[in-house]
Formats: sequence, structure tokens, C-alpha cells
Amino acid sequence: MLRARVAELEAGAQNANVYTASQQGNEKRHRQAAEQNETEAALRKSEQKFSRIFHLNPLAMSITRLDDGYFLDVNEGYCRLFGYTREELLGHFSVQDLNLWQDPGERPRLVELVRQKGEVPDYKARMRYCDGSIKDCSLSLRRIEIQGEDGMIAIIRDITEEKALEQALIQARISAEETSLAKSEFLANISHEIRTPMTIFMGMLDLVLATRLEPDQREYLDTAQSASQSLLRLIEDILDFSRLEFGHLHLRQADFSLPALAREVIDMFRYKASRKGVILGCTIDPQTPVILHGDEQRLRQILMNLIDNAVKFTDRGEVTLGISPAQSGLVSFRVIDSGIGIPEAKIGQLFQIFSQVDSSSTRHYGGTGLGLALCRRLVEMMGGVIGGESSDGEGSVFHFTMPSDLQDGALQKTLRKPEAQNATCPSPR
Ligand SMILES: Nc1ncnc2c1ncn2[C@@H]1O[C@H](COP(=O)(O)OP(=O)(O)O)[C@@H](O)[C@H]1O
Ligand SMILES: [Mg+2]
Repeated sequence: MLRARVAELEAGAQNANVYTASQQGNEKRHRQAAEQNETEAALRKSEQKFSRIFHLNPLAMSITRLDDGYFLDVNEGYCRLFGYTREELLGHFSVQDLNLWQDPGERPRLVELVRQKGEVPDYKARMRYCDGSIKDCSLSLRRIEIQGEDGMIAIIRDITEEKALEQALIQARISAEETSLAKSEFLANISHEIRTPMTIFMGMLDLVLATRLEPDQREYLDTAQSASQSLLRLIEDILDFSRLEFGHLHLRQADFSLPALAREVIDMFRYKASRKGVILGCTIDPQTPVILHGDEQRLRQILMNLIDNAVKFTDRGEVTLGISPAQSGLVSFRVIDSGIGIPEAKIGQLFQIFSQVDSSSTRHYGGTGLGLALCRRLVEMMGGVIGGESSDGEGSVFHFTMPSDLQDGALQKTLRKPEAQNATCPSPR
């Protein structure tokens, strides 16, 4: 009896186990089905999202089978760009049938690249539109699996206008370079053509001035000589400024004697200053290196411009060139005058091209407004700094620095004693 009861209980327990197992199996299947549904829903959602992006994108997009170029989908942008309808393309044509590539070898090459790399950005190719016209296009491609097929999605941009613009810019740059080259060649030629007769003219004046002359004849010829020197300086300045603009002006490096150069420059203006009754002098600090290493011709040009201005804008009193050593191996130059001065606020702008204190002064004093701008460019090229101080009616000081860049300590000589103000420059030794 008891045994029968035990058997009954055991059978009940087994049944209960069977029931539990089948219930668990059912739940698992339900869970799996729910998960699958969720995955499919997410997939559908993402496909819909992709489809929306694909079809609403204003850029031309296509999906083709990788192997044969058969169209799997195209968007409105693609149809607009190439001139076909969606119906014409889907299920009828492959990109080969349409002869889309100007170079038929282009697609196999591109497909090979996509197979190797998975994606190819900004591939440039020439493509044929429905009307037969050939356009420059940029394609960005990516390999994708779509509807179980090995496919390739392409975003295509017509860059014909961009390319034309790029070409036009390249052409414009080339012709600008050619024009610039032609201009500098012209300048080099004209420089030679103007300078040669000027040099002959000035040489002849020198020869005549060396002969016995009546005082008034000498005076006329002195005036002619001074005017021709100014003209030559102006020509040089204009040409140099053009060369600077084109980056064709290069500094020379050589040793030269500073006192000799100072003397030469002062001598050039001696006649002009004395005619105005202005005393022209030069002081050189004895600590200043005698031999400098740099571009003597450019230093001469800067000094000539500053002294020319000082003499031009001074009607009485004195003009002095002062030279002394400055910090960090620099030499300092100052041109001091007791002339008409410059309103303080205007000094800075005078270093800009064509800038003058008063345009009406052009009639009285002449000039082009080129000199100080050229001086600034030259000084900066040499690694120095230029500036000026003045106030209306109080005279002016223009100053700049230049590296002395001594090559050899043995060359360093200093002057015996400081020259007195307004004294003439020492002779070169
Ligand atoms: N030492 C000076 N005294 C008074 N004004 C000066 C002096 N140096 C330059 N300037 C002013 O700066 C202007 C520009 O000088 P610059 O560039 O040499 O051109 P330009 O001498 O041809 O006029 C001059 O026209 C003048 O107004
Ligand atoms: Mg000047």
C-alpha cells in the first residue's frame, strides 16, 4: 500500500518535471521569437532610416552590384544629374550598358580598389550624361551588402565648374607670373637703358667741371650736376622699389669702410647744402667699427635718402650725420636737421609708400614719397630698425640700425678721436 503510494508520488513528480521542462522550452522560444522580432524591427527601422537618407539626399547616390554594375537603387539626385528616370535605370541597365564612364577601363579599376580597401573617397573621373555630355565628377564609394548582394554605394558630385575655376586660377597664376617676369625683365632693361646715358652725361659734367671755368659757368654746371644726381637717385629708388615688390632685390655681402662711405655721401650733398647756407657735418663715435660687412650700396642709398630729405627740408641751421655703435653688434645712424620738422602724429605714416606730410609741399619741395618707404624696406631687409622723431618747426631726427657683422676682429679699427659736431667726415684710412 505504502509502496503503491510511493510509486504514485514518484510518477506525479516525474509528470511535474516534464511539465516544468516543457514550460521552460516554451518560454525560451517565446523569448527568442520576441528577440528576433525586436532585431527585425530594429533592422527595418535602420533600413527605413537609410532609405530616407538615400532618397532625400540632394547628392547623386546609386547602389550597384559590385560584379556587373547592375543598378540596385538610385536616388532622385542621381536621376537629376545623369538625366535618366529611376524606372529606366532599375532592372534594365547596368553602368556598363549606359556607357557612363568616359574611359571604360575606369570602373574595373575602381571596383578593384573598393574590393581591396572597402571604401574609396573622392575618386576623380569623367562621366557621360544622358545627353552625351562629358562631365568631371568626384565619387565617394563604399562596399556594402544589400539584399544579400555584394554591392557598392556611390555618392557622386559634379565638379566640372570647380575644375574649370581651378584651371582658370592656375592659368591666371601662370599669366600673372609671366607678366611679373616680363615686368622685371622690362625694369632690368629700362634700368640699364636709363642709367647708361645718365652716367655718360654725369661723367661729361665731371670732365667739364675739372677744366678752367668762369665762376658763373661753374655754378651752372654744379647745378646741372646736382640735378642729374637727384634724377639718377630717383630712378634708382623707383627701380629698387619695383625690385623689392617682386622680391628680386638681393643684398650683397662684402667688407667696406664706414668712414669712407660717410665721407662720400656727405660730399655728394655738400654743394646743395652750402647753396642753402646749411652746414653739413658728420660725427662718428670712436668706438664704431671702421670696417663693416654688409651691402654698402644699400647703406649708401638709405643715407642718401635721409640726408637728401634733411637738406631739402632745412632752410637754415645744420644737418648732421651721426654714427655710433649700438647694442648687440649693431651700428646706429642718425640724420639730425634743424629744418621745418614734422607734426608728431604724421611721422609713422611717412614710412609708407607715396606718403608725404602735406601734398601741397610737393610743389614747393618736390619729391615722390618713395624714399622713406624704400629706406624702411631696405633697413628691415638688413635686420635693422628705422624710425624718426620730430615736431612741427623743431627739426627732425631720422635714425636706423644696421648689423656691423664684422668678419675679422683684426679689421676692427676705431677712429682716433670723436669728430666735432659739424666737422667734415674723416678721410678713409
Ligand atoms: N627731414 C625731414 N624734415 C621734414 N619732413 C620730412 C623729412 N624727411 C621726410 N619728411 C617728410 O616725409 C615725406 C616723405 O619723404 P620721402 O619718403 O623721402 O619722400 P619725398 O622726399 O620724395 O617726398 C616728405 O615729403 C616730407 O613731408
Ligand atoms: Mg625723400
